[in-house]
Amino acid sequence: MSLHRKFVLISAAALVLGLSVSARADEHEAAAAPAVDKLVPVCQSCHGEHGAKPILPEYPVLAGQYANYIEHALKDYRSGARKNAVMRAQAANLTDTDIAAVAQYFAHQQGPIYTFTLPPAAAK
Ligand code: HEC
Repeated sequence: MSLHRKFVLISAAALVLGLSVSARADEHEAAAAPAVDKLVPVCQSCHGEHGAKPILPEYPVLAGQYANYIEHALKDYRSGARKNAVMRAQAANLTDTDIAAVAQYFAHQQGPIYTFTLPPAAAK
């Protein structure tokens, strides 16, 4: 085998190896990527698109809430510390990783929630 041929074979082998390694990295990322893609559409069916416009006025807005507040609420629904039949069912099977992921998602959406500074007289 000529040196040139050997070089071509080695390059081809390296290319195949490289491709399979990067394919495996993608699979790994997909598995590690929390179930946001699966969960968020379910949440949105009540809390509205991006959690910003709930389907009923008494359903809370999630978009723009603090992530740790969302996490806390979901863990309390899951444990039963916060009692609500609808959300208990929603939170029952969420893992801590799911909760952290959906909390990050909704915290980063634009929504109508904002804080404002009270005028000095009212703040006393
Ligand atoms: C079937 C409708 C429905 C679905 C689906 C739903 N929710 Fe809710 N959610 C509600 C209602 C109603 C409340 C208000 C419950 C209460 O008064 O405690 C609520 C409350 C919440 C709260 C508390 C908000 C606050 O301001 O205290 C969070 C956080 C929340 N939902 C997150 C989620 C997430 C995340 C999902 C998806 C995994 C989801 N919800 C799916 C109806 C739903």
